[in-house]
Amino acid sequence: MPLHPRVAAAARGELPDWARADRKRVAHMRRVAELLGQWAEASGLPPEARDRQIALGFLHDAVKGMHPDELREIVDPEFRELPDPVLHGPGAAALLRHDGVEDEHFLLSITYHTLGHPALDAAGRALYAADFLEPGRNLRNKWRTSMRARMPKEPALVLREIVRVRIKHLVHRRRPVRDETMAFWNSLVEGRSWARASEV
Ligand SMILES: [Fe+2]
Ligand SMILES: [Fe+2]
Repeated sequence: MPLHPRVAAAARGELPDWARADRKRVAHMRRVAELLGQWAEASGLPPEARDRQIALGFLHDAVKGMHPDELREIVDPEFRELPDPVLHGPGAAALLRHDGVEDEHFLLSITYHTLGHPALDAAGRALYAADFLEPGRNLRNKWRTSMRARMPKEPALVLREIVRVRIKHLVHRRRPVRDETMAFWNSLVEGRSWARASEV
């Protein structure tokens, strides 16, 4: 399936006209896209799969600057009750779908880039990891540098470690852990993560 023009443009760093992201956010998306591109090269992905993976980096936070009330109006009804900070994933996915993007795994990757989901494909998992590991964040830098280097060869291990750290952080702060996140964790520790990813 050839890439949708919107996706192909994003792989070149061109954001949609509906994007709402300030300079800092665009710089973050660029770093995530670069990391996704490096991992794609290291894994020997063909050009189209590489571009698709890079596009995820440039699109995942494209409407992070949109007000939550506005996002609630455009997301699918099932996402309206999500907390404000995670609405921008479903928001960007809804706008991409409206533009004609039909790649369900691509849309799922954008939708669940903050929460994780057991049905994420390899590119969606890479996005989840890159969003956390990109070099611009100032957090556990030594550990994140080593995780970045390990990702192309040991993606399952790296994913498991990131989800473990993020769930631990939520529990530590007495915050709820969403079902999708727990299901993502279970898919990683039950060793069926990659097989199931193609079943959506
Ligand atoms: Fe995000
Ligand atoms: Fe992000």
